[in-house]
Amino acid sequence: MILTAVRNRAISPHRGGEDAHEFTAISMKNMVYTGQFFIFCMERFQNTRQPDWDWWGKLWPTPGEALRQLGLSAGDSLVEIGSGNGYFTLPAARIVGPATVYALDLDESLLAELESLATQQQIENIVPVHGDARSLSEFISEPVDVGLIANTFHGVDDQAALLEEVTAVLADTSQFIVINWQNLPKEETTIADEPRGPPTELRLSPTETATIVSDATGLTQTQQIDLPPYHCALMFER
Ligand SMILES: C[S@@+](CC[C@H](N)C(=O)[O-])C[C@H]1O[C@@H](n2cnc3c(N)ncnc32)[C@H](O)[C@@H]1O
Repeated sequence: MILTAVRNRAISPHRGGEDAHEFTAISMKNMVYTGQFFIFCMERFQNTRQPDWDWWGKLWPTPGEALRQLGLSAGDSLVEIGSGNGYFTLPAARIVGPATVYALDLDESLLAELESLATQQQIENIVPVHGDARSLSEFISEPVDVGLIANTFHGVDDQAALLEEVTAVLADTSQFIVINWQNLPKEETTIADEPRGPPTELRLSPTETATIVSDATGLTQTQQIDLPPYHCALMFER
């Protein structure tokens, strides 16, 4: 478990600097009182480490094309939940720019990599957000056109609670995209001769995912798109 002092969170760049009002306005969700201090608990979802780019790049040689296939287009503001170091965020920002792309992750070092890559690539419309996705709506203050969660949903402990947070940040007309590893035994999803992806028991079928999302959000599933060799995207709209 990663524990971050509340104060750190209040001075994150997204929050725009240290501010006593922001400090007191933070909700008590995810707070633990130690007897002396309140601390903010940030805990990684299960089996959601950022994959190494050597094999990730073999699996996803053209992430931007995959996003275009899913209908992402210029002008769509977006939040990627669990953005990691930006394998999808960076091409997403190129596609939707100048609209804003929020990249939320609880791993600050991955967000630092993302910022450095964005600078190198002269991409200026990404807002990195350090925080726990369980409190997404506390970080994103304007409604977004697209919510994206890629390679992360399988590990979410309380999916209904996370989806409630997602719904809270989606605009009245918006899309939600879930990209999951296919529901295959892990031994069958090999790259560079190694089994990759989450453990078999965490993988969700498209039907399971669609039911969980629709039940929790009331969003309507519009499409299911296979992203060979091992992924599947589900699209929902509000
Ligand atoms: C498997 S990686 C996927 C990264 C990126 N979406 C991609 O597909 O390349 C999952 C990411 O989710 C982040 N993550 C895990 N638990 C999180 C949480 N509770 N809140 C925010 N981010 C989280 C991890 O730090 C990691 O960067």
